[in-house]
Amino acid sequence: MTGCTALVLGSSRGIGAATARALGAQGHRVVLHGRAPGEELAALGRELAAPTVAFDLADEAAARRGVADAAAAHGLPRVVVYSAGVNRVVPFEDASGQDLAGAFGVNVGGAVWVLQHLLPKMAAQGGGAVVLVSSIRGVDATASDRTALYSMAKAALGNLTVSLAKRYAPTVRVNAVAPGFTRTDMVATWDEGAWRQARSNLLGRPAEPREIASAVAFLASDAAAHITGQTLVVDGGYGLSGK
Ligand SMILES: NC(=O)c1ccc[n+]([C@@H]2O[C@H](COP(=O)([O-])OP(=O)(O)OC[C@H]3O[C@@H](n4cnc5c(N)ncnc54)[C@H](OP(=O)(O)O)[C@@H]3O)[C@@H](O)[C@H]2O)c1
Repeated sequence: MTGCTALVLGSSRGIGAATARALGAQGHRVVLHGRAPGEELAALGRELAAPTVAFDLADEAAARRGVADAAAAHGLPRVVVYSAGVNRVVPFEDASGQDLAGAFGVNVGGAVWVLQHLLPKMAAQGGGAVVLVSSIRGVDATASDRTALYSMAKAALGNLTVSLAKRYAPTVRVNAVAPGFTRTDMVATWDEGAWRQARSNLLGRPAEPREIASAVAFLASDAAAHITGQTLVVDGGYGLSGK
């Protein structure tokens, strides 16, 4: 699969932006996405000569309308990457219904609205590949004691990966990548303890966004043609380090 339309949700910055660059380098026609139009998104659009779309994935109506408009304007994608996400630290004991809805809104709901629209059409079109960006926090052994709501949402994304891989086999492959600590704008929320954890994996450092992007691009490519329903952990061995 080269030269396909590749829609990357949440590609205005961070892991999504790095993934857009990686898919562009593989020859895909990338469609960039952010929550709202902005200079970062526009600058990446100029860099990659790629169209940009903007809609709020936490808003069901906006997400449904946005993905339909994006596919109508720029073509039905054969590759879909869902990298949009937020990680707000809310202590479990203090969490409200609004916090729970907030954790699931963009991290899970947006993926559901987008894939409900695209997957039947991708299957009818002859196939493709979906990669969901999860987190090590969604993997049981490395679920967080500080961000339980985020961990729950990312675990749901891993489960969705399996459900959709089964439902859309053999035409569309659906996989996930579970990054560990990665140096993006999300580091702005890291305190000293988080930085310590970020360096406590077997490789002794957090990942760079391009190191996650290369795993996403691999799963989206024909090199992964026999891989579906899997979550590939890219955490520098954090889950094995016993720290
Ligand atoms: N960085 C890490 O350490 C780490 C570790 C594990 C997993 N992850 C996961 O990796 C993914 C990417 O994270 P990142 O570190 O690259 O984050 P980031 O730099 O903060 O980028 C987040 C992206 O998601 C988009 N987004 C957020 N809320 C949105 C909404 N309501 N509607 C539409 N788009 C929205 C942002 O768009 P705008 O720019 O328009 O806001 C941006 O493009 C996330 O799913 C995150 O949970 C990150």
